[in-house]
Amino acid sequence: MSLCVHDAAQILRPPGDGLPYLRHDRAGELRLDGGALTAADGQITGFAADGGAAIQVDGAGCALVPGFVDAHTHLPFAGWRAGEYAQKVAGVPYERIARVGGGIAASARAFAEATDDAVLAQAQALAREMLEHGTTTFECKSGYGLSVEAELRALRLAGSLGDESAQGTASTALLAHAVPPGYEADSWMDVVEGMLPQVRAQTRASALDIYVESVAFTNEHLARMGDLATANELALRCHVEQFATHRSVPVALAHGARSVDHLACLHPDDVAPLAAAECAAVLLPGAELLGAEHIAPARALADAGAIAVLATDANPGTSPVVSLPLVIGIAVRRYGWTVREALLAATLNAAWVLGRSDAVGSLEAGKQADLLLLDGPVEHIPYRFGHNPVAAVFIAGHLVHVRPDAAWRIGGGA
Ligand code: NIG
Ligand code: FE
Repeated sequence: MSLCVHDAAQILRPPGDGLPYLRHDRAGELRLDGGALTAADGQITGFAADGGAAIQVDGAGCALVPGFVDAHTHLPFAGWRAGEYAQKVAGVPYERIARVGGGIAASARAFAEATDDAVLAQAQALAREMLEHGTTTFECKSGYGLSVEAELRALRLAGSLGDESAQGTASTALLAHAVPPGYEADSWMDVVEGMLPQVRAQTRASALDIYVESVAFTNEHLARMGDLATANELALRCHVEQFATHRSVPVALAHGARSVDHLACLHPDDVAPLAAAECAAVLLPGAELLGAEHIAPARALADAGAIAVLATDANPGTSPVVSLPLVIGIAVRRYGWTVREALLAATLNAAWVLGRSDAVGSLEAGKQADLLLLDGPVEHIPYRFGHNPVAAVFIAGHLVHVRPDAAWRIGGGA
């Protein structure tokens, strides 16, 4: 099936073909000229109008951008924790909530009590909401299991979610999220090591993840997780510097981490080494706004040439947010980023974190035709804060979502 989007006001394209990522000091090179895009058999074929394509999309006044890639979410999870948000707003710190059985432990109890069908139904509804906001590829993490069986269950459910969603997914085994009841952090890490053969045999996890914080694990555990990731040919990802500064970034870099995530309390001395490394700085503005007191040094990271990424961190605790347009809006306002910087962080660089930038994340010939038609120029994404700009979504050239007011734009060829 062939497709042509014609007369688009803007088409977001990388400065060259085949780039696995683009460092943020080069974000200004992203192109936004108007024009046309064609696709056939699920792939982008070129940038010249083709009146003979079977599906014609009128892009007048619209921006065409790659499908968003959400490289950090905690789907699947069970239920919500709105009561904790009210406590946080009233000034109770996350650490105190966690120490009295709230936080991750509360979501682990909910996960244990929910049936597979209930967990999947909630995750599917969220995946649908993500699709309507332009997310065409997303990451799923385990981490609310807190036992061997329950973590494997979470990863299996993540696989089912991937099978049943329109989007592409990647799974991450967040096996050190909170210290499970009855364990010390060290003894739990022994359990993690012992379960990795099952993780590899029974799940599609492509990365390991760990949460370094006073209420969770330490830099020594991060180093051990790094060694386990290397030994098992899995990518290393980590939740670091979220609520306090632990100087975890040098440890993560020494272990070849694919990404360091959060960074709200990143030490200033760690900006330059991180920016120079082949390791993504995954920034989570929703979690900062709703959950933490600090803001990552995103302007400095971008200026220094980091591989920066924006993600929702969708989870029931720190960031019950699934909209990347909203996250882009927060990032532009609070980080002082340009729209190009924010879009780069939610597309190509995010795809690289998931190991998918050879196939998705940018509009270039040969890549999968994951396309978003926006109802205005890209500058409206942050400016019309809270508005969903996504008028239509194509995955591999198939129309998977269209807003009723945009349906007239999509028709058959002549
Ligand atoms: O990314 N910080 C650790 N993990 C999650 C929060 C998990 C939760 O509170 O449920 C995060 O913020
Ligand atoms: Fe997270």
